[in-house]
Amino acid sequence: MALRKSLVSMAADSFLNAKEEIFRSVDDAVEMRRVGAESAILETRFSTAEDLSDIVNRVPLVFPRHVTNVIAEFDPFDSGLADVADSVDSAIREQHRSPEVSLQLWQSGRTVYKFNRREAWDEAAQVLADRGFQVSRAGAEYAVSVCYTPKTAVVGFNRIADSLSSWPGGEVRLSRPAEQVSRAEFKLEELFKEHGLPFGHSGTALDYGAAPGGWTRILAERGFRTTAVDPGDLDPAVLKRPDVVHERTTAGNFIRESDRRFDLIVNDMKMSPTRSSQLMIDSLPLLKRHGMCIVTLKTGSHHVLSQLDESFAILRRGYTIEFARQLRHNRNEVTVVLRALD
Ligand SMILES: C[S@@+](CC[C@H](N)C(=O)[O-])C[C@H]1O[C@@H](n2cnc3c(N)ncnc32)[C@H](O)[C@@H]1O
Repeated sequence: MALRKSLVSMAADSFLNAKEEIFRSVDDAVEMRRVGAESAILETRFSTAEDLSDIVNRVPLVFPRHVTNVIAEFDPFDSGLADVADSVDSAIREQHRSPEVSLQLWQSGRTVYKFNRREAWDEAAQVLADRGFQVSRAGAEYAVSVCYTPKTAVVGFNRIADSLSSWPGGEVRLSRPAEQVSRAEFKLEELFKEHGLPFGHSGTALDYGAAPGGWTRILAERGFRTTAVDPGDLDPAVLKRPDVVHERTTAGNFIRESDRRFDLIVNDMKMSPTRSSQLMIDSLPLLKRHGMCIVTLKTGSHHVLSQLDESFAILRRGYTIEFARQLRHNRNEVTVVLRALD
């Protein structure tokens, strides 16, 4: 029986964790081999990229960032998409009736052949246009993707909504605003912009480990009246906002002393994942009914899956895990979104 192939992307140093996670949850997984620093081809007996995306979101699996169905491969040293145009054309038409497709292109690992993203995009777009497709950079329901790796170029095709990310290979790019207080802001911005979770745009937020105030700034900009808890200093521009209050104390002390309730609690403290998870359980009395939380679990790089298993077991005593992912802007950490159980 022919095996199905999916291209799975992850952070370069998370390949082994991604592989272990996938083999734990995808019953028909047969083999997963790395093709680039941040990409691997997964062979399954019958699961498609859509099935994988469903498993990733449901279990959840933390490390895969992007998936697509592999429809062709070509040798980037001396050929291009034109050489596999027939198989690409028929694979697209099998899955999809509309002529509109987005073309996404990225590089995974250092390529030794000459690679120019813009030229490669123009060339591939022309091949698709010659076959009658209307090609855009973004915005279509389905994407043709070409991932250039050191040894091969992998062509994928999938519905963007079933690909885990709308960015090529999940490589979300955000520009740095002039008002940015810390690089940590990118993590929260990526979550808010890319993952469409229902956090709302008003109410009250509590930010544990807030200094110097990047997350507090993003929350306040979004419309939350924000209480920033940290023994350290907040950036003066954040501190002077009328919608921000600084409590110069630890999260533990704040939990013991406060009788207030919040719509959203966020936690970006550098703390072991299990301790951080227990602190979220201790925070339940401070959360409104069905309130949500955002936590970065700082796993470091050793025993990552067992730390996550233990932490998720603690969190599930009081919350459902709505989302968990190593975001593009997470390094040695994972972003988890929680909703309080009734
Ligand atoms: C990575 S920084 C947070 C960056 C912040 N999210 C931002 O966007 O600017 C971690 C912060 O956690 C704070 N922290 C560590 N342990 C804490 C505790 N027990 N209670 C409150 N804050 C704590 C540290 O003082 C530090 O400022």
